[in-house]
Amino acid sequence: MKDDIKATPLTHSGSSEKLEKLMISEAAPFHIREAFKTIRTNLLFTLATKESKTFVVASAMPDEGKSTTAANLSVVLAQTGAQVLLMDCDFRKPSVHRLFKLSIDKGLTSILCGIDKIEEALNENVVPNLDIITAGPMSPNPSELLGSSRMAELLAIVQKAYDYVVIDASPINIVSDAIIVSKQTAGIVLVSRQGQSKHDQLKKAIESCEFARVNILGLVLNESKSANSHYYGYRYNQHK
Ligand SMILES: Nc1ncnc2c1ncn2[C@@H]1O[C@H](COP(=O)(O)OP(=O)(O)O)[C@@H](O)[C@H]1O
Ligand SMILES: [Mg+2]
Repeated sequence: MKDDIKATPLTHSGSSEKLEKLMISEAAPFHIREAFKTIRTNLLFTLATKESKTFVVASAMPDEGKSTTAANLSVVLAQTGAQVLLMDCDFRKPSVHRLFKLSIDKGLTSILCGIDKIEEALNENVVPNLDIITAGPMSPNPSELLGSSRMAELLAIVQKAYDYVVIDASPINIVSDAIIVSKQTAGIVLVSRQGQSKHDQLKKAIESCEFARVNILGLVLNESKSANSHYYGYRYNQHK
């Protein structure tokens, strides 16, 4: 199925570096790996009822753990044997390239501008079954790019080619990018960080999703300290 991508005009580099910054790496504590597997199970149940298997990971504000969650979730999804694509749609503060030690010279912005073909910007099998498209070079018009017909076309192509497409996005309360992209997906996984996220900010983000009629697939509580008093923890709750 992934070969479809190579046949399309819209459209490589490869690397399989160590995943030091990722909590889900082999070196990660057991409870963190287990927490991500639990999130994966819950998410798979939620997505089973949706036509699209593409989802956006977003949060109200910066630094709540969107990229960390998107990256780790992509790895655990790929561990099931499913073909997974992770795309960095946070053009304002891109970080997927740093987490996986990839180049940002070719990526989503350069695909959307027509500079690179998808396969030229695709990092294949960064970990087994996981391909990654980094954000690409800085763009002066991120929202316009994400709302463009080329983006819609790209999403349609990758949704056909992969079992799951995970999208890392910008903070909902700062810019409308996450909402714009998620309209073309199964919905948003909201990330909130214990001890950091403010109730009002989360409420505002949920209201923005509801106003835009974007599905909230679930809430990931990052750095949850109440779960067995673990310092790092993740909990996933389905919304409503
Ligand atoms: N559960 C966690 N425990 C410790 N550090 C974390 C945790 N989640 C995220 N971080 C760190 O917090 C910072 C912000 O996380 P990041 O995922 O980049 O947030 P966002 O994408 O929402 O801006 C990063 O340095 C990341 O390594
Ligand atoms: Mg981020």
